[in-house]
Amino acid sequence: MEPITPYNTTESKKEQVAQMFDNIAFRYDFLNSLLSLGIHKGWRRKCIKRIASKNPKYILDVATGTADFAIEAITLSPVSVIGIDISEGMMKFGREKITKLSLDKKITLKYGDAETCDLPSNSMDAITIGFGVRNFENLEKGLTNILRILKPGGQLCILEFSSPRKFPVKQFYNFHFKYITPTLGKLFSKDTRAYTYLPESIKAFPDNERFTAILQKVGYKNASFSPVGMGLASIYLAEK
Ligand SMILES: C[S@@+](CC[C@H](N)C(=O)[O-])C[C@H]1O[C@@H](n2cnc3c(N)ncnc32)[C@H](O)[C@@H]1O
Repeated sequence: MEPITPYNTTESKKEQVAQMFDNIAFRYDFLNSLLSLGIHKGWRRKCIKRIASKNPKYILDVATGTADFAIEAITLSPVSVIGIDISEGMMKFGREKITKLSLDKKITLKYGDAETCDLPSNSMDAITIGFGVRNFENLEKGLTNILRILKPGGQLCILEFSSPRKFPVKQFYNFHFKYITPTLGKLFSKDTRAYTYLPESIKAFPDNERFTAILQKVGYKNASFSPVGMGLASIYLAEK
């Protein structure tokens, strides 16, 4: 099956994804809050609570975008948080938020591809990924490289959209993604494709049991998932 890509051009999925996020970066935070009515903030908070018990000191936020997860991770009082992303456009807005919060000494954002970045092996106590894995060009390659970077016993926490299966959430979700998301997305972001790619990429994503199976397959231990938002998203936890 052909991978779902933002623009269906001859460029790689990675190039198209970076371009799409560069295009919508200026409206990303606003649209996130508008389309989810702010629910996404509580989900990130839940994720961070799940990795709190091990007191992680060195945290990596992969696909950091505008840095919401990296900023939330500060509540764990880490020594440092590094955020990596392939969209400089998204990180520009992230850096502005970090500076406004006077967190420049704690959080560093830098260009990095989950699949190929060469951060040292066994260097991170915890790694977070918010709404990023669905956009990877090669999911297993990305997860394998992230496993390499994680310390033995370290935790991976992933937040990702799922396809809801139950009435009435499924029906509400279908209506929202068919009519509301593309209309508001196009109106505010000026990118006609980004907010139709979103539901398509969620539909194609191997969520819940299928995703924990992939985590186990590439070498993570104790992979588990718990749905949030009545099945709109899931939190995945796994260890090295
Ligand atoms: C939906 S945004 C999520 C941003 C942020 N994590 C959040 O929770 O709001 C997805 C981000 O994943 C990034 N991304 C996609 N593929 C990537 C990869 N292979 N390596 C690093 N970042 C990637 C995109 O550039 C984009 O900024």
